[in-house]
Amino acid sequence: MNTADDNANLEVGPTAGELKARFGRDIFRDFDFEDPNFNDHFFDILDAQLAHCPVARSNVGHGYWWVTRNDDVRRIAQDWKTFSNALGYHPNRPEGVPYLYPEECDPPIHTAWRNLLSPFLSPKACAALEAMAREDVNTLIDRFIGRGECELISEFAGLVPGWAFFKNVCGVPVDDMQMLIEDLEFANFGPVSESEKKAKCYEKVFTYLGNFLKLRSQQPPKGDMVDGIAKGVIYKDGSASTWDENLSVLVDLVQGAIATTTYVMGSSIHHLATHPEDAKLLRENPELIPQAVEEFIRVFPPIVGLGRTCMQDTEISGTKITEGDFVMVVYSAASRDPRVVENPAKVDITRKNIVHSTFGVGPHRCVGSNLARMQLKATLEEWLKRIPEFSVKPGTSPVYSTAFMRSMHKLELVF
Ligand code: HEM
Repeated sequence: MNTADDNANLEVGPTAGELKARFGRDIFRDFDFEDPNFNDHFFDILDAQLAHCPVARSNVGHGYWWVTRNDDVRRIAQDWKTFSNALGYHPNRPEGVPYLYPEECDPPIHTAWRNLLSPFLSPKACAALEAMAREDVNTLIDRFIGRGECELISEFAGLVPGWAFFKNVCGVPVDDMQMLIEDLEFANFGPVSESEKKAKCYEKVFTYLGNFLKLRSQQPPKGDMVDGIAKGVIYKDGSASTWDENLSVLVDLVQGAIATTTYVMGSSIHHLATHPEDAKLLRENPELIPQAVEEFIRVFPPIVGLGRTCMQDTEISGTKITEGDFVMVVYSAASRDPRVVENPAKVDITRKNIVHSTFGVGPHRCVGSNLARMQLKATLEEWLKRIPEFSVKPGTSPVYSTAFMRSMHKLELVF
Protein backbone atom coordinates (compact mmCIF):
# COMPACT_ATOMS: atom_id res chain seq x y z
CA MET A 1 0.00 0.00 0.00
CA ASN A 2 1.33 3.42 -0.88
CA THR A 3 1.51 6.24 1.63
CA ALA A 4 1.68 10.00 1.44
CA ASP A 5 5.47 9.75 1.17
CA ASP A 6 5.13 7.96 -2.18
CA ASN A 7 3.40 11.03 -3.51
CA ALA A 8 6.36 12.42 -5.34
CA ASN A 9 4.50 14.87 -7.53
CA LEU A 10 3.92 17.77 -5.14
CA GLU A 11 4.74 20.94 -6.99
CA VAL A 12 6.11 24.08 -5.39
CA GLY A 13 3.29 25.48 -3.32
CA PRO A 14 2.09 26.12 0.22
CA THR A 15 3.88 24.19 2.96
CA ALA A 16 2.09 21.70 5.21
CA GLY A 17 1.98 24.36 7.94
CA GLU A 18 0.47 26.96 5.63
CA LEU A 19 -2.13 24.50 4.42
CA LYS A 20 -3.08 23.60 8.00
CA ALA A 21 -3.46 27.25 8.92
CA ARG A 22 -5.64 27.89 5.87
CA PHE A 23 -7.68 24.68 5.50
CA GLY A 24 -7.43 23.00 8.92
CA ARG A 25 -5.25 20.15 7.60
CA ASP A 26 -2.62 19.28 5.00
CA ILE A 27 -4.96 18.79 2.04
CA PHE A 28 -2.10 17.43 -0.11
CA ARG A 29 -0.72 14.67 2.11
CA ASP A 30 -3.61 14.08 4.54
CA PHE A 31 -6.85 14.92 2.76
CA ASP A 32 -10.30 13.86 4.04
CA PHE A 33 -13.42 14.62 2.02
CA GLU A 34 -15.50 14.28 5.20
CA ASP A 35 -13.55 17.00 7.03
CA PRO A 36 -15.99 19.93 7.64
CA ASN A 37 -13.24 22.27 6.40
CA PHE A 38 -13.74 20.79 2.94
CA ASN A 39 -17.38 21.90 3.05
CA ASP A 40 -16.39 25.40 4.15
CA HIS A 41 -13.52 25.87 1.65
CA PHE A 42 -14.82 23.63 -1.13
CA PHE A 43 -13.72 25.52 -4.25
CA ASP A 44 -10.52 26.90 -2.68
CA ILE A 45 -9.36 23.41 -1.72
CA LEU A 46 -10.05 21.99 -5.19
CA ASP A 47 -8.22 24.95 -6.77
CA ALA A 48 -5.20 24.54 -4.47
CA GLN A 49 -4.99 20.83 -5.32
CA LEU A 50 -5.34 21.56 -9.04
CA ALA A 51 -2.56 24.13 -8.82
CA HIS A 52 -0.01 22.25 -6.73
CA CYS A 53 -0.86 18.60 -6.13
CA PRO A 54 -2.50 16.64 -8.96
CA VAL A 55 -2.64 13.47 -6.85
CA ALA A 56 -3.36 14.16 -3.18
CA ARG A 57 -3.30 11.47 -0.52
CA SER A 58 -5.87 10.60 2.13
CA ASN A 59 -4.89 8.46 5.10
CA VAL A 60 -8.45 7.80 6.27
CA GLY A 61 -8.98 4.07 6.85
CA HIS A 62 -7.16 2.15 4.11
CA GLY A 63 -6.42 5.48 2.43
CA TYR A 64 -7.14 6.70 -1.07
CA TRP A 65 -5.68 8.85 -3.84
CA TRP A 66 -7.48 12.04 -4.84
CA VAL A 67 -6.93 12.87 -8.53
CA THR A 68 -8.01 16.32 -9.72
CA ARG A 69 -6.56 17.27 -13.12
CA ASN A 70 -8.77 16.99 -16.16
CA ASP A 71 -6.44 14.83 -18.28
CA ASP A 72 -5.79 12.36 -15.43
CA VAL A 73 -9.50 12.18 -14.55
CA ARG A 74 -10.43 11.47 -18.18
CA ARG A 75 -7.77 8.80 -18.52
CA ILE A 76 -8.79 6.96 -15.34
CA ALA A 77 -12.52 7.15 -16.00
CA GLN A 78 -12.07 5.76 -19.52
CA ASP A 79 -9.61 2.98 -18.61
CA TRP A 80 -11.98 0.64 -16.75
CA LYS A 81 -9.62 -2.31 -17.12
CA THR A 82 -6.96 -0.61 -14.99
CA PHE A 83 -9.41 1.30 -12.78
CA SER A 84 -12.36 -0.93 -11.97
CA ASN A 85 -15.78 -0.04 -10.55
CA ALA A 86 -16.57 -3.61 -9.53
CA LEU A 87 -15.33 -3.13 -5.94
CA GLY A 88 -17.45 -0.03 -5.37
CA TYR A 89 -17.22 3.72 -5.68
CA HIS A 90 -16.75 4.51 -2.00
CA PRO A 91 -13.40 4.20 -0.20
CA ASN A 92 -13.35 2.18 3.05
CA ARG A 93 -16.63 0.58 2.05
CA PRO A 94 -18.16 -1.41 4.91
CA GLU A 95 -18.44 -5.14 4.23
CA GLY A 96 -21.80 -6.62 3.28
CA VAL A 97 -23.23 -3.53 1.60
CA PRO A 98 -24.86 -4.60 -1.70
CA TYR A 99 -23.20 -3.36 -4.89
CA LEU A 100 -25.32 -1.03 -6.96
CA TYR A 101 -25.45 -1.73 -10.71
CA PRO A 102 -24.69 -0.21 -13.18
CA GLU A 103 -22.39 2.07 -11.13
CA GLU A 104 -20.53 -0.71 -9.34
CA CYS A 105 -19.70 -3.14 -12.13
CA ASP A 106 -17.53 -3.21 -15.26
CA PRO A 107 -18.21 -4.18 -18.88
CA PRO A 108 -19.62 -6.54 -20.12
CA ILE A 109 -22.10 -6.68 -17.18
CA HIS A 110 -22.22 -2.91 -17.23
CA THR A 111 -22.84 -2.78 -20.99
CA ALA A 112 -25.88 -5.07 -20.72
CA TRP A 113 -27.51 -2.70 -18.21
CA ARG A 114 -26.65 0.49 -20.10
CA ASN A 115 -28.15 -1.02 -23.26
CA LEU A 116 -31.38 -1.54 -21.36
CA LEU A 117 -31.52 1.84 -19.59
CA SER A 118 -30.21 4.31 -22.17
CA PRO A 119 -33.22 4.36 -24.56
CA PHE A 120 -35.57 5.25 -21.67
CA LEU A 121 -33.42 8.29 -20.80
CA SER A 122 -32.48 9.44 -24.32
CA PRO A 123 -32.93 13.13 -25.30
CA LYS A 124 -36.15 12.17 -27.14
CA ALA A 125 -37.55 10.20 -24.18
CA CYS A 126 -36.78 13.08 -21.82
CA ALA A 127 -38.30 15.67 -24.18
CA ALA A 128 -41.54 13.72 -23.89
CA LEU A 129 -41.46 14.30 -20.11
CA GLU A 130 -40.91 18.05 -20.36
CA ALA A 131 -44.56 19.17 -20.24
CA MET A 132 -45.06 17.19 -17.02
CA ALA A 133 -41.92 18.72 -15.50
CA ARG A 134 -43.18 22.24 -16.29
CA GLU A 135 -46.54 21.43 -14.73
CA ASP A 136 -44.78 20.13 -11.58
CA VAL A 137 -42.67 23.28 -11.33
CA ASN A 138 -45.81 25.44 -11.52
CA THR A 139 -47.74 23.29 -9.03
CA LEU A 140 -44.93 23.74 -6.51
CA ILE A 141 -44.56 27.48 -7.16
CA ASP A 142 -48.36 27.92 -6.68
CA ARG A 143 -47.95 26.61 -3.13
CA PHE A 144 -45.67 29.43 -1.95
CA ILE A 145 -45.78 32.31 -4.43
CA GLY A 146 -48.52 34.12 -2.48
CA ARG A 147 -46.34 34.22 0.64
CA GLY A 148 -43.61 36.23 -1.07
CA GLU A 149 -40.96 33.92 0.31
CA CYS A 150 -39.92 30.26 0.36
CA GLU A 151 -37.31 27.85 1.65
CA LEU A 152 -36.16 26.72 -1.76
CA ILE A 153 -34.85 23.24 -0.98
CA SER A 154 -37.70 21.79 1.10
CA GLU A 155 -40.43 23.51 -0.91
CA PHE A 156 -39.04 23.27 -4.42
CA ALA A 157 -35.55 22.13 -5.50
CA GLY A 158 -35.62 19.09 -3.21
CA LEU A 159 -38.93 18.01 -4.80
CA VAL A 160 -38.73 18.73 -8.55
CA PRO A 161 -36.10 16.02 -9.31
CA GLY A 162 -37.95 13.44 -7.19
CA TRP A 163 -41.20 14.14 -9.01
CA ALA A 164 -39.46 14.06 -12.40
CA PHE A 165 -37.96 10.64 -11.73
CA PHE A 166 -40.25 8.81 -9.26
CA LYS A 167 -43.58 10.17 -10.43
CA ASN A 168 -43.02 10.85 -14.13
CA VAL A 169 -40.53 8.09 -15.09
CA CYS A 170 -41.30 5.32 -12.55
CA GLY A 171 -44.94 6.01 -11.64
CA VAL A 172 -44.36 5.97 -7.86
CA PRO A 173 -47.35 7.54 -5.99
CA VAL A 174 -46.65 11.16 -4.98
CA ASP A 175 -47.72 10.44 -1.37
CA ASP A 176 -44.83 7.99 -0.86
CA MET A 177 -42.18 10.29 -2.25
CA GLN A 178 -41.57 12.55 0.71
CA MET A 179 -40.67 9.59 2.92
CA LEU A 180 -38.38 8.15 0.25
CA ILE A 181 -36.64 11.46 -0.35
CA GLU A 182 -36.10 12.02 3.40
CA ASP A 183 -34.69 8.52 3.91
CA LEU A 184 -32.36 8.88 0.94
CA GLU A 185 -31.24 12.28 2.15
CA PHE A 186 -30.30 10.94 5.58
CA ALA A 187 -28.70 7.79 4.13
CA ASN A 188 -26.47 9.96 1.93
CA PHE A 189 -25.84 13.04 4.05
CA GLY A 190 -26.60 12.08 7.65
CA PRO A 191 -23.63 12.48 10.03
CA VAL A 192 -21.13 9.61 10.11
CA SER A 193 -21.74 9.41 13.90
CA GLU A 194 -25.29 8.21 13.13
CA SER A 195 -24.25 5.36 10.87
CA GLU A 196 -26.87 2.99 12.33
CA LYS A 197 -29.69 5.37 11.44
CA LYS A 198 -28.11 5.91 8.02
CA ALA A 199 -28.09 2.14 7.43
CA LYS A 200 -31.77 1.92 8.54
CA CYS A 201 -32.79 4.68 6.12
CA TYR A 202 -30.97 2.88 3.32
CA GLU A 203 -32.71 -0.37 4.23
CA LYS A 204 -36.09 1.38 4.14
CA VAL A 205 -35.35 2.66 0.63
CA PHE A 206 -34.37 -0.86 -0.49
CA THR A 207 -37.51 -2.34 1.09
CA TYR A 208 -39.84 0.26 -0.42
CA LEU A 209 -38.33 -0.03 -3.89
CA GLY A 210 -38.19 -3.84 -3.61
CA ASN A 211 -41.94 -3.95 -2.88
CA PHE A 212 -42.62 -1.48 -5.67
CA LEU A 213 -40.59 -3.51 -8.20
CA LYS A 214 -42.24 -6.78 -7.10
CA LEU A 215 -45.70 -5.24 -7.49
CA ARG A 216 -44.85 -3.92 -10.93
CA SER A 217 -43.44 -7.31 -12.01
CA GLN A 218 -46.82 -8.87 -11.16
CA GLN A 219 -48.86 -6.29 -13.09
CA PRO A 220 -49.42 -6.26 -16.87
CA PRO A 221 -46.33 -4.67 -18.50
CA LYS A 222 -46.47 -0.99 -19.45
CA GLY A 223 -43.36 -1.19 -21.62
CA ASP A 224 -41.54 1.37 -19.47
CA MET A 225 -38.13 1.40 -17.76
CA VAL A 226 -39.47 -0.16 -14.55
CA ASP A 227 -40.77 -3.18 -16.51
CA GLY A 228 -37.36 -3.52 -18.13
CA ILE A 229 -35.56 -3.41 -14.77
CA ALA A 230 -37.97 -5.90 -13.17
CA LYS A 231 -37.41 -8.32 -16.07
CA GLY A 232 -33.63 -7.82 -15.92
CA VAL A 233 -30.99 -8.46 -18.57
CA ILE A 234 -29.13 -11.40 -20.09
CA TYR A 235 -25.35 -11.09 -19.70
CA LYS A 236 -22.80 -11.90 -22.39
CA ASP A 237 -22.18 -15.36 -20.88
CA GLY A 238 -25.87 -16.22 -21.28
CA SER A 239 -26.76 -15.93 -17.57
CA ALA A 240 -29.68 -13.80 -16.40
CA SER A 241 -29.37 -10.96 -13.91
CA THR A 242 -30.61 -11.80 -10.40
CA TRP A 243 -33.54 -10.11 -8.64
CA ASP A 244 -31.14 -8.37 -6.23
CA GLU A 245 -29.13 -6.98 -9.13
CA ASN A 246 -32.32 -5.72 -10.79
CA LEU A 247 -33.38 -4.01 -7.57
CA SER A 248 -29.93 -2.47 -7.13
CA VAL A 249 -30.34 -0.78 -10.54
CA LEU A 250 -33.52 0.93 -9.42
CA VAL A 251 -31.85 2.04 -6.17
CA ASP A 252 -28.83 3.36 -8.11
CA LEU A 253 -31.06 5.35 -10.45
CA VAL A 254 -32.99 6.82 -7.55
CA GLN A 255 -29.77 7.77 -5.75
CA GLY A 256 -28.37 9.33 -8.89
CA ALA A 257 -31.56 11.17 -9.79
CA ILE A 258 -32.35 13.20 -6.73
CA ALA A 259 -29.78 15.06 -4.61
CA THR A 260 -27.58 15.72 -7.64
CA THR A 261 -30.13 17.72 -9.60
CA THR A 262 -31.29 19.47 -6.40
CA TYR A 263 -27.79 20.87 -5.83
CA VAL A 264 -27.45 22.25 -9.36
CA MET A 265 -31.00 23.67 -9.25
CA GLY A 266 -30.51 25.28 -5.83
CA SER A 267 -27.10 26.69 -6.77
CA SER A 268 -28.36 28.07 -10.10
CA ILE A 269 -31.27 29.85 -8.43
CA HIS A 270 -28.92 31.11 -5.70
CA HIS A 271 -26.57 32.46 -8.38
CA LEU A 272 -29.45 34.29 -10.10
CA ALA A 273 -30.69 35.63 -6.74
CA THR A 274 -27.26 37.11 -6.06
CA HIS A 275 -26.53 38.20 -9.66
CA PRO A 276 -29.68 40.06 -10.78
CA GLU A 277 -27.92 41.12 -14.01
CA ASP A 278 -27.71 37.43 -15.03
CA ALA A 279 -31.37 36.86 -14.06
CA LYS A 280 -32.33 39.87 -16.21
CA LEU A 281 -30.26 38.59 -19.15
CA LEU A 282 -32.02 35.21 -19.02
CA ARG A 283 -35.48 36.75 -18.57
CA GLU A 284 -34.95 38.92 -21.62
CA ASN A 285 -33.16 36.23 -23.65
CA PRO A 286 -34.63 32.85 -22.63
CA GLU A 287 -32.86 31.24 -25.60
CA LEU A 288 -29.66 31.57 -23.50
CA ILE A 289 -31.05 29.31 -20.77
CA PRO A 290 -29.72 25.96 -22.13
CA GLN A 291 -26.21 27.43 -22.31
CA ALA A 292 -26.57 28.91 -18.81
CA VAL A 293 -27.70 25.50 -17.55
CA GLU A 294 -24.54 23.92 -18.96
CA GLU A 295 -22.38 26.54 -17.20
CA PHE A 296 -24.27 25.98 -13.92
CA ILE A 297 -23.69 22.24 -14.28
CA ARG A 298 -19.97 22.89 -14.83
CA VAL A 299 -19.47 25.22 -11.93
CA PHE A 300 -21.82 23.62 -9.35
CA PRO A 301 -20.87 19.92 -9.49
CA PRO A 302 -22.89 17.72 -7.11
CA ILE A 303 -20.69 14.63 -7.57
CA VAL A 304 -17.43 15.73 -5.98
CA GLY A 305 -15.57 12.52 -6.77
CA LEU A 306 -16.19 8.80 -7.16
CA GLY A 307 -13.82 5.90 -6.70
CA ARG A 308 -12.17 3.11 -8.63
CA THR A 309 -9.91 0.24 -7.54
CA CYS A 310 -6.57 0.02 -9.29
CA MET A 311 -6.15 -3.43 -10.90
CA GLN A 312 -2.47 -3.23 -11.85
CA ASP A 313 0.54 -1.11 -10.88
CA THR A 314 0.56 2.16 -12.76
CA GLU A 315 1.37 5.84 -12.42
CA ILE A 316 -0.69 9.04 -12.42
CA SER A 317 1.01 12.41 -12.94
CA GLY A 318 4.25 11.06 -11.50
CA THR A 319 2.69 9.25 -8.52
CA LYS A 320 3.13 5.48 -8.28
CA ILE A 321 -0.23 3.73 -7.89
CA THR A 322 -0.16 0.10 -6.77
CA GLU A 323 -2.59 -2.73 -7.56
CA GLY A 324 -5.34 -2.64 -4.93
CA ASP A 325 -5.05 1.11 -4.25
CA PHE A 326 -8.27 3.11 -4.15
CA VAL A 327 -8.38 6.12 -6.48
CA MET A 328 -10.98 8.91 -6.37
CA VAL A 329 -11.67 10.61 -9.72
CA VAL A 330 -12.53 14.15 -8.75
CA TYR A 331 -14.94 15.21 -11.50
CA SER A 332 -15.76 18.43 -9.63
CA ALA A 333 -12.15 19.60 -9.82
CA ALA A 334 -11.63 18.48 -13.42
CA SER A 335 -14.48 20.82 -14.48
CA ARG A 336 -12.53 23.81 -13.12
CA ASP A 337 -9.05 22.83 -14.29
CA PRO A 338 -7.47 26.00 -15.76
CA ARG A 339 -5.58 23.77 -18.22
CA VAL A 340 -8.87 23.19 -20.09
CA VAL A 341 -11.23 25.99 -18.94
CA GLU A 342 -10.39 29.67 -19.22
CA ASN A 343 -11.03 31.62 -16.02
CA PRO A 344 -12.71 28.56 -14.49
CA ALA A 345 -13.88 30.10 -11.21
CA LYS A 346 -16.03 32.65 -13.04
CA VAL A 347 -19.69 31.77 -13.54
CA ASP A 348 -20.14 33.04 -17.09
CA ILE A 349 -23.59 32.23 -18.44
CA THR A 350 -22.57 33.44 -21.89
CA ARG A 351 -19.59 31.05 -22.04
CA LYS A 352 -19.32 29.19 -25.36
CA ASN A 353 -18.10 25.58 -25.88
CA ILE A 354 -18.38 24.62 -22.24
CA VAL A 355 -16.06 21.75 -21.28
CA HIS A 356 -16.91 19.89 -18.09
CA SER A 357 -16.83 16.45 -16.53
CA THR A 358 -19.69 17.01 -14.06
CA PHE A 359 -21.64 14.10 -15.60
CA GLY A 360 -18.56 11.88 -15.55
CA VAL A 361 -16.48 10.46 -18.37
CA GLY A 362 -16.18 7.02 -19.99
CA PRO A 363 -18.54 4.04 -19.70
CA HIS A 364 -20.13 5.22 -16.43
CA ARG A 365 -20.95 8.69 -17.73
CA CYS A 366 -24.29 9.72 -16.22
CA VAL A 367 -27.20 7.84 -17.75
CA GLY A 368 -29.60 10.51 -16.43
CA SER A 369 -27.88 13.59 -17.90
CA ASN A 370 -30.67 14.28 -20.42
CA LEU A 371 -33.31 14.13 -17.69
CA ALA A 372 -31.27 16.47 -15.48
CA ARG A 373 -30.71 18.98 -18.29
CA MET A 374 -34.37 18.94 -19.31
CA GLN A 375 -35.53 19.60 -15.72
CA LEU A 376 -33.01 22.38 -15.14
CA LYS A 377 -34.01 24.15 -18.36
CA ALA A 378 -37.77 23.79 -17.74
CA THR A 379 -37.33 24.93 -14.14
CA LEU A 380 -35.36 28.08 -14.93
CA GLU A 381 -37.74 29.03 -17.75
CA GLU A 382 -40.86 28.65 -15.60
CA TRP A 383 -39.27 30.17 -12.48
CA LEU A 384 -38.14 33.32 -14.28
CA LYS A 385 -41.61 33.77 -15.80
CA ARG A 386 -43.41 33.35 -12.47
CA ILE A 387 -40.86 34.91 -10.08
CA PRO A 388 -38.86 37.38 -12.16
CA GLU A 389 -37.23 39.16 -9.22
CA PHE A 390 -36.00 37.40 -6.11
CA SER A 391 -33.20 37.61 -3.60
CA VAL A 392 -31.74 35.82 -0.60
CA LYS A 393 -33.66 36.58 2.61
CA PRO A 394 -31.63 39.18 4.53
CA GLY A 395 -29.60 37.69 7.37
CA THR A 396 -29.61 34.16 5.86
CA SER A 397 -27.22 32.25 3.63
CA PRO A 398 -27.36 28.84 1.95
CA VAL A 399 -26.45 25.74 3.96
CA TYR A 400 -24.27 23.09 2.28
CA SER A 401 -22.83 19.70 3.14
CA THR A 402 -19.95 18.02 1.35
CA ALA A 403 -18.39 14.56 1.19
CA PHE A 404 -18.08 12.61 -2.07
CA MET A 405 -21.23 14.54 -3.00
CA ARG A 406 -22.03 18.18 -2.41
CA SER A 407 -25.54 19.20 -1.46
CA MET A 408 -27.48 22.34 -0.62
CA HIS A 409 -29.85 21.87 2.31
CA LYS A 410 -31.33 25.31 2.83
CA LEU A 411 -31.81 28.50 0.84
CA GLU A 412 -34.28 31.14 1.98
CA LEU A 413 -35.59 33.47 -0.72
CA VAL A 414 -37.85 36.51 -0.77
CA PHE A 415 -39.64 37.97 -3.79
C1 HEM B 1 -27.20 17.38 -12.49
C2 HEM B 1 -27.54 16.13 -12.22
C3 HEM B 1 -26.63 14.95 -12.25
C4 HEM B 1 -25.26 14.90 -12.15
C5 HEM B 1 -24.30 16.05 -12.02
C6 HEM B 1 -24.89 13.50 -12.23
C7 HEM B 1 -23.57 13.05 -12.20
C8 HEM B 1 -23.18 11.75 -12.45
C9 HEM B 1 -21.82 11.30 -12.56
C10 HEM B 1 -20.57 12.16 -12.38
C11 HEM B 1 -21.84 9.98 -12.86
C12 HEM B 1 -20.62 9.12 -13.21
C13 HEM B 1 -20.20 8.14 -12.18
C14 HEM B 1 -18.85 7.50 -12.43
O1 HEM B 1 -18.10 7.85 -13.34
O2 HEM B 1 -18.55 6.61 -11.66
C15 HEM B 1 -23.23 9.58 -12.87
C16 HEM B 1 -23.65 8.29 -13.09
C17 HEM B 1 -24.97 7.93 -12.95
N1 HEM B 1 -26.07 8.76 -12.84
FE1 HEM B 1 -26.04 10.76 -12.73
N2 HEM B 1 -26.00 12.74 -12.38
C18 HEM B 1 -27.09 13.59 -12.41
C19 HEM B 1 -28.41 13.23 -12.60
C20 HEM B 1 -28.86 11.95 -12.73
C21 HEM B 1 -30.23 11.56 -12.94
C22 HEM B 1 -31.39 12.53 -13.13
C23 HEM B 1 -30.25 10.19 -12.92
C24 HEM B 1 -31.41 9.24 -13.11
C25 HEM B 1 -32.31 9.36 -13.99
C26 HEM B 1 -28.90 9.72 -12.74
C27 HEM B 1 -28.51 8.41 -12.67
C28 HEM B 1 -27.19 7.98 -12.74
C29 HEM B 1 -26.81 6.57 -12.79
C30 HEM B 1 -27.72 5.37 -12.71
C31 HEM B 1 -25.41 6.54 -12.92
C32 HEM B 1 -24.51 5.32 -13.05
C33 HEM B 1 -24.22 5.11 -14.50
C34 HEM B 1 -23.26 3.97 -14.78
O3 HEM B 1 -22.57 3.54 -13.88
O4 HEM B 1 -23.24 3.53 -15.92
N3 HEM B 1 -28.08 10.81 -12.63
N4 HEM B 1 -24.02 10.67 -12.64
